[in-house]
Amino acid sequence: METGLLHLHNLLRWIIVILLLLSIIKAYTGWKGNKSFSAGDAKIWLFTMIASHITLLLGLYQWLMGRYGLLTFEIPAGSSRMKDPFIRFFQVEHPVSMLLAILFITLGRGMAKKDLSDSLKYRQAFVYFFVALLLLLAAVPWPFRSNYYKGIAGVRS
Ligand code: HEM
Repeated sequence: METGLLHLHNLLRWIIVILLLLSIIKAYTGWKGNKSFSAGDAKIWLFTMIASHITLLLGLYQWLMGRYGLLTFEIPAGSSRMKDPFIRFFQVEHPVSMLLAILFITLGRGMAKKDLSDSLKYRQAFVYFFVALLLLLAAVPWPFRSNYYKGIAGVRS
């Protein structure tokens, strides 16, 4: 089950990136094209938020109980949470950035329910989704960035 939950957390990254890009395109074209806010836009924004909240729940579990969880991972002697780039990445940088990204996705989706002009709705949502995308791209452990979060402890399997 452990592995299944991690795989699901991993897989959801692609779903979130695709949905978030769609949400950004919808918000940008709606804003620049002076469109009327549609049910289709609201649906895509909602799905993006749901996917991010499921990833959040899975992430919280990994954060506390996963291989490198706060409660389960023993920091090797001579190292510390903030000193080792690997431990810092998985216990601090990734969770904090992703919590912020999910907060911005939630704020962006919230624009659908706000009593604002459609143009303002689209513009605000675009800004929130765009900031979320930047945070997400910066803090996902992409394979090509593995040097960045390789720890001195060499614990990653
Ligand atoms: C949109 C949100 C998120 C995305 C796209 C995302 C993506 C990922 C990816 C791709 C991995 C690597 C998985 C692997 O090595 O198989 C990972 C690992 C991890 N994530 Fe997230 N994550 C998100 C949110 C969160 C949140 C909110 C937390 C904590 C509160 C979190 C905690 C972790 C932890 C602790 C790991 C390391 C698990 C391990 O390798 O054993 N993630 N995440």
